[in-house]
Amino acid sequence: MASIVNITEKLGSQAAAKAFTLTSAVWFAFATSFGMIAAGYLIAPDFMANIEFIQFGRSRPIHVNLVLFGFVTPGLLAAALYYAPRLLRTHLYSQRLGVVTAILWNLTLVIGVISLGMGYSQGREYAELPWAVDLMIAGLFGLVIFNLFMTVHRRQEPILYVSIWYACAAVVLTAVGYCLGNVIWKPDSGALLGIPDAILLWFYGHNIFGLLLTPLALGVAYYVLPLATRSPLYSHTLSLIGFWSLIVVYTHVGTHHLLQVPVPTWLKAISIVDSVGMVIPVMVFLINIWFTVKGKLGDIHADIGAKFVFTGTIMYFFANIQGSFMALPQVQRVTHFNNWVVGHAHLGVFAFAGITALGGLYFILPKITKKPLYSRYLADLQYWLILIGVSVMIIDLTIVGLLQGNAWLNGETVYRVLPEIHLYYVIRASAGLFILSGAYLGLYNIVRTLFFNPGAATE
Ligand code: HEM
Ligand code: HEM
Repeated sequence: MASIVNITEKLGSQAAAKAFTLTSAVWFAFATSFGMIAAGYLIAPDFMANIEFIQFGRSRPIHVNLVLFGFVTPGLLAAALYYAPRLLRTHLYSQRLGVVTAILWNLTLVIGVISLGMGYSQGREYAELPWAVDLMIAGLFGLVIFNLFMTVHRRQEPILYVSIWYACAAVVLTAVGYCLGNVIWKPDSGALLGIPDAILLWFYGHNIFGLLLTPLALGVAYYVLPLATRSPLYSHTLSLIGFWSLIVVYTHVGTHHLLQVPVPTWLKAISIVDSVGMVIPVMVFLINIWFTVKGKLGDIHADIGAKFVFTGTIMYFFANIQGSFMALPQVQRVTHFNNWVVGHAHLGVFAFAGITALGGLYFILPKITKKPLYSRYLADLQYWLILIGVSVMIIDLTIVGLLQGNAWLNGETVYRVLPEIHLYYVIRASAGLFILSGAYLGLYNIVRTLFFNPGAATE
């Protein structure tokens, strides 16, 4: 207890946001390292084949779980823990609770990585973590919900700005969705049987993106962009239409992952219609935010946080157009079961949500430390490394997907296609090196800003 008080005091004001910022930056570096290992195995499967802990079947889920729960979610939460009290004109209910949550969050991730590395996996995508870790994650969301809702309860500001809606909805819906998707009432398998399990898993699976990462990221964009450009939000009505249409439409898209599976046709129809319908919440949001910053690109360029976040909104546009397109069964006949989907995953989770998370971190860092960023130059360099890396990776994986998909349709065997795509795997790993360098540069810049920053205080 005394040591937690100590840590909170050491971190100073905004301790919770700082702890989550550090968490995100550290795990970004680890997550991309595991991504590189996984990409390495796809180029040379025998390379390091004798090290069980990092073989592909283990480094892949470690990579995926770390980007989701180690990098992107904590990054977006750091921003939320900073902006929520400000928008509500009050203090965070408990900074100490926020720091405890961050410490437990890190502990949970360490246990998760060790479990997956040792082969303890429940083998369901995005729900690989063993039962005990699932319980810890559900509990952590519970702690965030408590802190956030108590802050809302104590607010001085009667009007709830849309970022608050998004942050609150994200954590509550994810706490429930996580328990359902991980079949938490079945500790041994963490699964139902057969097709119902697939339906439930993908209901949860896409909601990790649709009801956790997306709303948290939109909350950050709605906070950062109007402030950085000193412009009032274009339309509060549109912001609420966007929020409710997202909640209604996004909850029903999960079965678009199962269009090639014998699930009931009506469920597939709903998922396809709603996937195409996702154009509504996305465009409503984009029109609103882009009209807000219209004519202010100079301001966005001047603020590194806003620059990342604005880039995230452009990537959201592409993720949506691509996503709605690939939910059409005729398109999925080519794009399913191959690297096209992996490309889309990096576009959505990284280029949209991850880049927005980084923007949120860079936007709040000078405010929570009351000092300028340690190095704007390094942050810009990180921006370009990441943007180039992820763009090359997405284009590369999309081409590989088309090659694989068309070969499959033509009845070509997998092993004859592998030599053809080998070069593209090398390009993907090379693009990964850009992202990896960006992650480590970012970690250095953030640690320097938080703890060893000679810059003069700004307030
Ligand atoms: C906004 C509209 C979106 C639509 C309509 C959409 C649609 C889809 C579809 C149809 C698939 C399945 C493809 C297949 O298995 O053949 C998919 C996969 C995926 N989507 Fe999206 N997407 C959207 C946005 C996003 C966003 C914003 C994110 C991230 C925050 C995201 C993350 C993912 C991931 C990670 C997968 C891969 C899942 C897997 O198979 O492991 N999507 N998406
Ligand atoms: C060094 C940079 C990175 C490299 C080399 C890399 C590599 C990989 C590899 C090899 C896979 C497995 C693909 C497969 O099974 O065929 C993968 C999956 C995935 N990665 Fe990355 N990755 C990197 C960065 C990131 C980042 C920063 C994010 C998100 C913030 C991310 C999100 C994902 C997701 C969501 C999947 C699952 C895709 C799916 O199931 O469709 N990756 N990555």
